Amino acid sequence: MLRFYLFISLLCLSRSDAEETCPSFTRLSFHSAVVGTGLNVRLMLYTRKNLTCAQTINSSAFGNLNVTKKTTFIVHGFRPTGSPPVWMDDLVKGLLSVEDMNVVVVDWNRGATTLIYTHASSKTRKVAMVLKEFIDQMLAEGASLDDIYMIGVSLGAHISGFVGEMYDGWLGRITGLDPAGPLFNGKPHQDRLDPSDAQFVDVIHSDTDGYYADNWKDHLRGKDPPMTKAFFDTAEESPFCMYHYFVDIITWNKNVRRGDITIKLRDKAGNTTESKINHEPTTFQKYHQVSLLARFNQDLDKVAAISLMFSTGSLIGPRYKLRILRMKLRSLAHPERPQLCRYDLVLMENVETVFQPILCPELQL
Ligand SMILES: *[C@@H]1O[C@H](CO)[C@@H](O)[C@H](O)[C@H]1NC(C)=O
Ligand SMILES: *[C@@H]1O[C@H](CO)[C@@H](O)[C@H](O)[C@H]1NC(C)=O
Ligand SMILES: *[C@@H]1O[C@H](CO)[C@@H](O)[C@H](O)[C@H]1NC(C)=O
Ligand SMILES: *[C@@H]1O[C@H](CO)[C@@H](O)[C@H](O)[C@H]1NC(C)=O
Repeated sequence: MLRFYLFISLLCLSRSDAEETCPSFTRLSFHSAVVGTGLNVRLMLYTRKNLTCAQTINSSAFGNLNVTKKTTFIVHGFRPTGSPPVWMDDLVKGLLSVEDMNVVVVDWNRGATTLIYTHASSKTRKVAMVLKEFIDQMLAEGASLDDIYMIGVSLGAHISGFVGEMYDGWLGRITGLDPAGPLFNGKPHQDRLDPSDAQFVDVIHSDTDGYYADNWKDHLRGKDPPMTKAFFDTAEESPFCMYHYFVDIITWNKNVRRGDITIKLRDKAGNTTESKINHEPTTFQKYHQVSLLARFNQDLDKVAAISLMFSTGSLIGPRYKLRILRMKLRSLAHPERPQLCRYDLVLMENVETVFQPILCPELQL
């Protein structure tokens, strides 16, 4: 038994040794969240010199930080449980795989960890002041504001905004990821992240991945004001891509029909994909064309078969038919692909109808 204890304590000793040489993000317990934590801001530097082991830096000890390179600060947000953010490692490695830069993880877990959101949010200005002091020192060593990029998550987005504001918007770029809403929405611009806080500010509301928002820079320069909003549809699973098609349908029922269309595509190899869209029930009127936006998780290059199903959603009452004069499938992402057509088709309600499409004639009436 004694030997066992010794073994355990030796293990603990060697573990804390390793932690000293290789600092890691502050890990707190749920107990800390209950009692609350005082603010302590730690800066941890990652470079390509060592992707796995950080250096703790401060304004008088820069470690491997090279001021002639771009520097990206990652600022986390509210931590109601005290645990380190699970996404941090991936983000650090992702950034360093794209560019040889300094990545500074801003660990303010002591401060952010509390069950009470207002306690965490009341510390954001102080975190911003610490960062300002550090960046001032970087500038004194020859860094340029153009090369400073801040990525802020939740409350971290507003911290980044506060830092940017102290430099009158001359930081290179700020990316706000799911900026915190409570206590910030509707506040004056100096009290939250806003477009004047950096030369380029992009805000992403969940869960985009690998999207290069800075590709918009040139396009936006020509706009007044130079701002835009973009919305992305994503699939639920990796790689999250969605492929959009228009399905144009002309019907010739005497009476108006209202209902949903479910669309499946199959290619020669047998791959199938189904449109995920939850259409508002569509209204089909005689000889009127409706264009449905269909979204698929897979992009099938050569569609061999299409299946359509019409449903009014009602479980009782008569079953309706939808008489289709012409349906046309066209890819939005690949408009150069041949459009596929089918003429004269009757869909029985809730019955899947499978058919082979033909190429639409070049000249449409
Ligand atoms: C990174 O640092 C750790 C701790 O100092 C060391 O064990 C490891 O070998 C280093 N890795 C590289 C690639 O230098
Ligand atoms: C800065 O970091 C160095 C090296 O880790 C440390 O010796 C020094 O005490 C720190 N200075 C401040 C002001 O925290
Ligand atoms: C700092 O970065 C510059 C540009 O990438 C490089 O030329 C220089 O050698 C680096 N300095 C050190 C000490 O690594
Ligand atoms: C279709 O199926 C083939 C064979 O099963 C597979 O290799 C291919 O990746 C699939 N294509 C798509 C777009 O899913």
